[in-house]
Amino acid sequence: FAKNQSPLVIAKNKNTILLASDPVPLAKYSTNFIFLEDNTYGIISKQKGALEVQIYKNNKPYTPKVKRIENAFEVTSKKGFNTYMEKEIFEQPSAVANTLNYHLDHKELKKAAQLLAQAILNKELFITACGTSYNAGTIASALITELTGIYIPTILASEFRYTNLKLSKNSVVIAISQSGETADLIQALKKAKNSGAKIISIVNVPFSTIDRLADITLYTKAGPEIGVASTKAFTSQLTVLYLLILFATKKQTKYLNILKQLPNLIDMILSNTKPIKELARKAKNYKNILYLGRKLNFFVASEGALKIKEIAYIHAEAYTSGAMKHGPIALIDKDFLSLHVMPKDELFEKSFSNLQEIIARDGPSIVLTSQDSQKEFKGLRLQGIITIPTIKEQIFYPFLSIVPLQLLALYVAELKKLNVDKPRNLAKSVTVE
Ligand code: G6P
Repeated sequence: FAKNQSPLVIAKNKNTILLASDPVPLAKYSTNFIFLEDNTYGIISKQKGALEVQIYKNNKPYTPKVKRIENAFEVTSKKGFNTYMEKEIFEQPSAVANTLNYHLDHKELKKAAQLLAQAILNKELFITACGTSYNAGTIASALITELTGIYIPTILASEFRYTNLKLSKNSVVIAISQSGETADLIQALKKAKNSGAKIISIVNVPFSTIDRLADITLYTKAGPEIGVASTKAFTSQLTVLYLLILFATKKQTKYLNILKQLPNLIDMILSNTKPIKELARKAKNYKNILYLGRKLNFFVASEGALKIKEIAYIHAEAYTSGAMKHGPIALIDKDFLSLHVMPKDELFEKSFSNLQEIIARDGPSIVLTSQDSQKEFKGLRLQGIITIPTIKEQIFYPFLSIVPLQLLALYVAELKKLNVDKPRNLAKSVTVE
């Protein structure tokens, strides 16, 4: 074996030596792991009847540390659910609660928040990630702007690594990754580190490459995520990001109580899936779906569109409702479904008129809104309406509004008899460029 760039982990037990890109599939065979560094190679051989592994670095034999890790990567069964993805969606109340409780008990959060506070003021903070983790990052960017008036960009890691962005030792980069092994993100971080920037990572897999590259890691406590489409990792990432930003902006006293209520509110959504199943029956017949929202809701719309693309193979795009008139409205006809993420907020009236514009053009529409505004849609020609509990503070809606969108994608994929946990052409962790 040889290791360069992409991850390689060795697990050993008495009779077996196993190699994989990730410790999760190895965890049921061993609790002893070696996380190989770049530019190492090795040979596995039988010495006096026993398997031996010899590792070389710079052409000289060397002995890396063997890490004993128990319970960190345990993969449980589907626990009676049809798919891992479904199980993971339903695990979100506990994933969010565990992540919250863990960080309120650990000092890394406050250390990271201090670093962040200064970086926001200096406008030297950058967020980077891929896929669903990127969508979580964009919500964090919008939240920082809401709370401080300062714009902090979230940059796709695949672009970040090639930008001409000048970072310095005063820069802080937040890297978000479920697996901790996404190749584009690793390269982006190496570039940032070379400029002296500090890295705060938010990862779900301990000991992963990104965890090891970071100056501070804030773990998501979601437990192993097996379904390729990320769900509980997303809401757990939001939990860490919100905590971090609330502490950095000294708003924790005002909002912590609301964060603590979120697991129960997510549970309420999960206890009534019937309306979403009914909508899935209609949504499955469409080839295209336009997901619309504004401000934070737009980024939720983006994550919703990603989910239905990934597992139900329906072409879906997210657009801010305000920009609809600059192009996408040309697509609207009776065969083009739109889904409006519009809980009651200060832009509700504007989103409502966008919805009316679509209905007036015979565009079939689904609305996702908060319970307090459900009555406003009476009499409108809709494919259906999904409601989420009302929260006093709008900034917390992403935790709730994403859940029905995950379920909708799941149910559509199930109706289409697709392989929900392993969608075609996708990988759980993308360890190549
Ligand atoms: C792949 C997966 C996505 C995931 C993305 C980023 O594309 O299919 O579900 O969001 O990688 O992965 P990460 O492990 O870095 O969060």
